Amino acid sequence: MININKNINLLNYDKSFKSNMESFKSNYVSTVQVNKEKNNQNSNISLGSPLIIAKNLTKQYNGKAAVNNLNLTINKGEIFGLLGPNGAGKSTFILMLLGLTEPTSGQITVAGFNSTKEPIRVKRITGYLPERLGFYEDLTARQNLKYTAELNGIPEREIENKIQEVLEIVGLDNVKNNLVSTFSKGMKKRLGIADVLIKDPQLAILDEPTEGLDIKIANQILDNIKILNKEKNITFLISSHQLNLIQKICSRIGIMSKGKLIGEVKIDLLSRGLFGEGRYIIEIEVSNITDEVLNKIKEIDKVVKVNKKDNVIEVISDEDIRPQISKIIVDNNLLLTRMNIKDSSLEEIYLKYFKED
Ligand SMILES: Nc1ncnc2c1ncn2[C@@H]1O[C@H](COP(=O)(O)OP(=O)(O)OP(=O)(O)O)[C@@H](O)[C@H]1O
Ligand SMILES: [Mg+2]
Repeated sequence: MININKNINLLNYDKSFKSNMESFKSNYVSTVQVNKEKNNQNSNISLGSPLIIAKNLTKQYNGKAAVNNLNLTINKGEIFGLLGPNGAGKSTFILMLLGLTEPTSGQITVAGFNSTKEPIRVKRITGYLPERLGFYEDLTARQNLKYTAELNGIPEREIENKIQEVLEIVGLDNVKNNLVSTFSKGMKKRLGIADVLIKDPQLAILDEPTEGLDIKIANQILDNIKILNKEKNITFLISSHQLNLIQKICSRIGIMSKGKLIGEVKIDLLSRGLFGEGRYIIEIEVSNITDEVLNKIKEIDKVVKVNKKDNVIEVISDEDIRPQISKIIVDNNLLLTRMNIKDSSLEEIYLKYFKED
């Protein structure tokens, strides 16, 4: 096994809760037998190949769609962020993925297993941190993890080592014998992550993993997610409202609104100055912009749109066409005072989607 603990930040902490983790756990009881078979048929999905596939996935509550005809593929090895305002359908999507609620129509598969028809197989390879954590408050951290480990069919002789390993990852090994009722919110969240990791999942679903945590702890948790992704190839699906945090670790972000996926952002493109699905925004400041210059810029191949605000021109294009633009400006004897590729933050993109919504 890879020893990743040396690279993991040991976490410090923070206060309290209880809920649908228990229903998720109780679902596990029936999985114990299957887990004991310990077959490896799921590990044949290679990095970069589809792990989660949602096709025309729809869930209606009282005739109203919470998830509406959603199509989404998430590949093995990705850290995929699911963003969207309250009520967008993020948690409903996650519940269908885990087989905890049935789609009204459409389907979702994880590693080739249909979440609705084969939920036990999906749960065997998936760890889930629910929005609201539910631990046994009158048990210690160690006892709670032991319970999860047993439910997941981890062999008795491996359990104590495994508990120690995951507690060290989240920095709770020094309080492992304390009752969960004495834990702060941040400590419970970290115990929740340990609870996800103890089964060595291929896929970890984290619903709001950093909500309510102070920024230092939140960052440490995100750092650890990144390391686990790299070193253990765990695929992460993270739902969050915290754009700045999610931008730091996700490779790809899906923006959800009213049950639909309305946009996708590739973070590597974003950091290279590309907007949304790969477009550049070039800002140019020129003395006395003329219509002739504007028209010539519009005619450059790959230009999608040209906007003018006072003496600033904003060009949206599919390629970096700065050389062609400066040539036009110089040829027209104008003075170019500034030209740069505009960085777009995830927040700007996110707000743009909702402006157009
Ligand atoms: N069990 C339910 N019964 C009826 N309606 C529900 C149920 N669960 C969710 N909904 C509705 O479905 C929609 C999507 O809810 P969901 O919880 O999936 O949103 P979300 O994106 O997770 O929101 P948040 O960011 O607040 O967690 C909402 O309009 C919600 O009221
Ligand atoms: Mg939710």
